[in-house]
Amino acid sequence: MTQSTFDHYAVVGNPISHSKSPLIHAEFAKQTGEQLIYSAELVEPGQLKNFVESFAEKNGKGLNITVPFKMDAFKLATELSGRAQRAGAVNTLTLTGHKISGDTTDGVGLLNDLTKNHLQQIKNKTILLVGAGGAVRGVLEPLLLESPASLVIANRTVSKAQQLAQDFSSFGNISACGFNDLNDKQFDIIINGTSASLSGDLPPLPDNLFLENACAYDMMYAKNPTVFMQWAKQQGAKTVLDGLGMLVEQAAESFYIWRGKRPETQSVILMLRQ
Ligand code: ATR
Repeated sequence: MTQSTFDHYAVVGNPISHSKSPLIHAEFAKQTGEQLIYSAELVEPGQLKNFVESFAEKNGKGLNITVPFKMDAFKLATELSGRAQRAGAVNTLTLTGHKISGDTTDGVGLLNDLTKNHLQQIKNKTILLVGAGGAVRGVLEPLLLESPASLVIANRTVSKAQQLAQDFSSFGNISACGFNDLNDKQFDIIINGTSASLSGDLPPLPDNLFLENACAYDMMYAKNPTVFMQWAKQQGAKTVLDGLGMLVEQAAESFYIWRGKRPETQSVILMLRQ
């Protein structure tokens, strides 16, 4: 860990060497004139608490949390934002004295990428969210707050989708189903929130799911289009997007929490694409 008089921030995970967060935050810092250090830190499973304590002692002010520590961070936080509480996960910690504040910026990141960067309207649209793990749980609240006509969660394990629909029912028109129940249904926006893309798998979705002018969004990103993105293109989705914009937008929201300044994101997304 680097020691310095500058405020220190980091992303922690395992593995972590692939992380683009140091590059993204270095760009944000340059752009806003903020003097800070941002590094990537490999932490062993079970060691998050020890790491955070020693990080805070060395001028550490904030952390982004990635796989597999989002639940650990949730438990470690001494206070939680409302949205982190409801999402059941934390991806941003702010360290102030002995206080550890937990927040989640993933949902806002997805929403900003969809609506601001790609001008997708959520209001009155029909949305299908594929998957019912932590990634999906984190984005339900901000999506529902935009008042879609309906939001359906489809998952391999249907009971997990049903649980999520129940937990977020007060936020809007949300329901759950299995993949087989999707036959004959169509949507304006289909978001893949499963981890299937990571292993090059495609959830078993039926044909003809996309309405005219529909948008497909994979919360994952890779150098080449994911299998879900390739499938969506073949199925006639008009707009097909990966999760790179979401990554930069969630980072921008974390930066805002820490520094009170909103960085411009377009140029950073473009830089990462190259
Ligand atoms: P994350 O935190 O990334 O969301 P997770 O909580 O383990 O990870 O959730 C992974 C999600 O991807 C789950 O919805 C999982 O489906 P199950 O709940 O049935 O396990 C889904 N998933 C993973 N691999 C999949 C595959 N090959 N096909 C369909 N769904 C898959």
